Amino acid sequence: MVARNRDTKRIRRLLGIFPVVALLGPRQSGKTTLAGQLHADHYFDLESPADQILFDAPQRALGPLRGLIVLDEIQRNPALFSLLRVLADETVDRRFLILGSASPDLVRHGAETLAGRIGFHYLGGFSLEDVGHDSAEQLWIRGGFPRSFLAEDSETSRIWRDAFIQTYLERDISFYGVSLPPGALRRFWTMVAHYSGQVPNFSEIGRSFGVSDTTVRHYLDLLEGTFTVRLLQPWSINVGKRLVKRPRIYVRDTGLLHALLGLTHRRDVLSHPKAAASWEGFALEQLVGIIGKRSEELYFYRTHAGAEVDLLWEKNGRLRAAEMKLSDAPRMSRSMHNVLQDLNLDHLFVIYPGERTYPMADQVTAVSIRDLEICRGAAGA
Ligand SMILES: Nc1ncnc2c1ncn2[C@@H]1O[C@H](COP(=O)(O)OP(=O)(O)OP(=O)(O)O)[C@@H](O)[C@H]1O
Ligand SMILES: [Mg+2]
Repeated sequence: MVARNRDTKRIRRLLGIFPVVALLGPRQSGKTTLAGQLHADHYFDLESPADQILFDAPQRALGPLRGLIVLDEIQRNPALFSLLRVLADETVDRRFLILGSASPDLVRHGAETLAGRIGFHYLGGFSLEDVGHDSAEQLWIRGGFPRSFLAEDSETSRIWRDAFIQTYLERDISFYGVSLPPGALRRFWTMVAHYSGQVPNFSEIGRSFGVSDTTVRHYLDLLEGTFTVRLLQPWSINVGKRLVKRPRIYVRDTGLLHALLGLTHRRDVLSHPKAAASWEGFALEQLVGIIGKRSEELYFYRTHAGAEVDLLWEKNGRLRAAEMKLSDAPRMSRSMHNVLQDLNLDHLFVIYPGERTYPMADQVTAVSIRDLEICRGAAGA
């Protein structure tokens, strides 16, 4: 069993603050397994016929319970949120950990109904910290879904991911009331994979796909809402430059990205034109996991004049940025100088796969992917 200490620690901390904690993530990311390691006092699975009582008489079932109560697959009965609100306000020793794999409704219902009483934690695949840096390349090539990462060989891993994609398209997605032919969404998702790391023009995608850009937007929302795609919003505070205003997209799990691109082995990935974009997306997801910000608090920056940086976030009221580079020894570029100037950055981190972390310039550090933690720490680390 792979230990997930960072997640366990954060969930425990949230449980110490909020009466309800939501553990959200894509299907098969390990939510149920992780919840099982928290030694809950009671466990209910809303997909299990045995726990039908949570639909029939939830108050009777939950009211008398004390301690840590896990409600798995909460998306099956969002009506429970109003009951949770009542129970959360009782001053008794009771905490709820709710697990779900559908973000849009869950987050909206949860945040609205349980305002101030709920904390959220995202659980994606394994992180570098979970698997150890010596397995970094395997994590990149296979992605972080436990079954994919731990598969006995590359082929088995790929077969698992293909099946995951199939199930997602044929079953999971229909749960959101989407009446979309699975073939269309698959082609769309594959197209997104080809654009991963880029800032695509929705109308252009729509045209090549034979749908309107509103439909493109709708498909993307769906993929984002189920945690399979990340949409990074452009930094939009006026800096007196002409800015790119469209979001940047990533397939979040590089294992799924590679499966969508038809890549199985390390050599396939390394020789593919998307290799650098894939590694950069991988590093970005790892970094996001470490700085612990929500999607809405993350940006990228790009001007029409060509200055650009992959990730921007605020720390103590100042802006930090990170640029991902699949390179042996990253160097200062014009774009980096421009970004430092335009944004009055607190610090720029240049993340790369090498082993050494070293200063590149004033306020710029080349950071080995092994040392990502420093991006969270004190300025000028
Ligand atoms: N930490 C871990 N170490 C090893 N294997 C794991 C770990 N976490 C999960 N797995 C394996 O990954 C698979 C999926 O895990 P789990 O059922 O916990 O995911 P889930 O997020 O609850 O999925 P679903 O959304 O489908 O309910 C299982 O086969 C489980 O044994
Ligand atoms: Mg589960």
